Parts: sequence; C-alpha cells; structure tokens
Amino acid sequence: MSVEHMRQSVNCIELYHVEKSFGRQRVLKDVTCSVAAGEIFGLLGPSGAGKTTLVKILTGQLSADRGEARLFGVSSGRLSRREYGRMGMVMDELGLYERLSCRENLRLFARIYGISHSRGEELLRRVDLGDFAGFPVNRLSKGMKQRLALARALLTGPRLLFLDEPTSGLDPSTAAKIHRLLREEQERGAAIFLTTHNMEEAAKLCNNVALLHQGEMVEYGPPGEICRRYNHQNEIFLRKKDGTLLRLKNDGSGADLLQACARENQIESIHSTEPDLETVFMELTGRGLLA
Ligand SMILES: Nc1ncnc2c1ncn2[C@@H]1O[C@H](COP(=O)(O)OP(=O)(O)OP(=O)(O)O)[C@@H](O)[C@H]1O
Ligand SMILES: [Mg+2]
Repeated sequence: MSVEHMRQSVNCIELYHVEKSFGRQRVLKDVTCSVAAGEIFGLLGPSGAGKTTLVKILTGQLSADRGEARLFGVSSGRLSRREYGRMGMVMDELGLYERLSCRENLRLFARIYGISHSRGEELLRRVDLGDFAGFPVNRLSKGMKQRLALARALLTGPRLLFLDEPTSGLDPSTAAKIHRLLREEQERGAAIFLTTHNMEEAAKLCNNVALLHQGEMVEYGPPGEICRRYNHQNEIFLRKKDGTLLRLKNDGSGADLLQACARENQIESIHSTEPDLETVFMELTGRGLLA
C-alpha cells in the first residue's frame, strides 16, 4: 500500500473506548466508532445522553478520562492549526459577533484563514442569506443565525464538519435546503458528524447512525439496517382495491398470494412492519428521543 493510499484510508474520526465522567456522573461509557471521508454520521440520543460532550472531546474542547479520540489520525488533545484548518464546527453557542453583519462575520473569519471575501459572499447565497449580508446578527432569527454559522464553518472547505443539531428550530423547507447543502459537501468528500433529535432527518441523511443512551452506544450502523434488525414481526400488510387488508408473513409463504394480487392488479398499497428509527429507539431506551 502506498503512503498516499494509507493517508487516504485514515478515518477522519476514530474513537476508541472513550470514557468521560463529570464528578461521579459517568457521561460516556466505552464509546468506540469511526467516521470515514465522504460519510455522514449521525449521533442520536435523548437530551443528556452525552452527545455534545462527545463532540467536545473530539474537537479538543474537553479531554477524555480514558480511551482515545483521533481526528485525521491525530489525538484530539494534540490538534494543531493544521487539523483545525481542515474542520468546520457549528455548536450550540454559535459564536457569532452579534453586532457585526453577516458579511463582516464571515470576513473576519476569512481573514484569519487567508480566504478571499468572494467565498464568503458565495456561501451566504448558498445558505440563502444573500439578501441579508448587511444585516447585523442581532437582527437575525435563530434559524438564520444557524445558517450563518454553517456558512462560516464551510469557509475553509473543511474535510470534516461537526454540526450539533444543525436543523433544530428550522422550518421544513429551510431544513431541506440545509440537507441538500450537506449532501453537496459529502459529495465533495467531506465527512460530516452531526448530532440530532430528529430521527427522520437521521434516516434520510446519514450513512451510519449511533444511538447513545446514558453515555453508551447501544446501536450502530446504517439506519435501514438497524430498522430491519428490529423487524421482529417481519410481516407485510397488503391493502386490496376492494378494501380488504391481508397480513402476510414475509418469509416466502405468502408469495403466491402476493403474486396473484399483483397479477390481477388488485393492490392498493403495501406496507412492511419494519419499524422506524424512533420506534427502535423507544425499544432500546424505553423512551422517545424528545421525552
Ligand atoms: N461541564 C459539565 N459539567 C458537569 N456536567 C456536565 C457538563 N457538561 C455536560 N454535563 C452533563 O453531562 C450529561 C451529558 O450532557 P451533554 O450536553 O453531552 O448531553 P446531550 O446529549 O448533548 O444533550 P442535549 O440533547 O440536551 O444537547 C448531562 O447530564 C449534563 O448535565
Ligand atoms: Mg447537546
């Protein structure tokens, strides 16, 4: 394997047996996972599960008690300007200058990284704030501030993006725009690590998700695969055009009936008993994400 090849194969994020306590409270317990370039990874979990704590450990804002967190192969406690220059972050506290305009906020940041102003203008348009470039941040709505923080995070063309609740408080059409933008970043090869309470968002957007429950990763994998794993009933509901509802085992035994209905053009709708992520989460944690 060539050196270049090895470099490319290093995961953007690697976590090995990470533990963290605040006083006597164990907030993260033996967390292990990785995120590759071009992957959108979703960390899911109810309030207090430890999501932000994990992001803070990864970004070097907190240190782990045990285990190791690595970014681009570098221990998160030893990140240098080089690694910080390759990542973008949008956290709870957006860290914007309230009295400066959107444009000025981006310019300040661009200057630090030696990036041209035009990139800031382009990003303001991409997050739909082109018409608000001259507005001071303290006159923006929460959703607009969030989008500005995202534009700032994208200024350096990061290879790794951390987003803590990127679409909370956004209306569905704005959230969809953000999703499109994140997919574009993914296509560019960026890795995206996001935390969310929104299961639908996670199922649509993420290649892999991890369910964090009281500091423990209780599930990990592609959302569709996780849901199929919890499809205990494994049945198919078939509604015929005459209104009758058929319930078939999804093990081949109902194949003839299914085929006959299809052939006679009698199928109104078909549903499987595959649960959604929210249902899986309820089963694993005994409560919903917003509970
Ligand atoms: N600096 C700190 N000192 C003491 N306890 C803390 C500190 N930061 C977080 N905690 C505690 O750690 C636990 C996990 O908090 P964290 O912010 O990581 O949760 P979260 O999953 O991000 O929740 P939310 O969905 O509400 O953002 C909580 O019980 C919280 O009170
Ligand atoms: Mg949080």
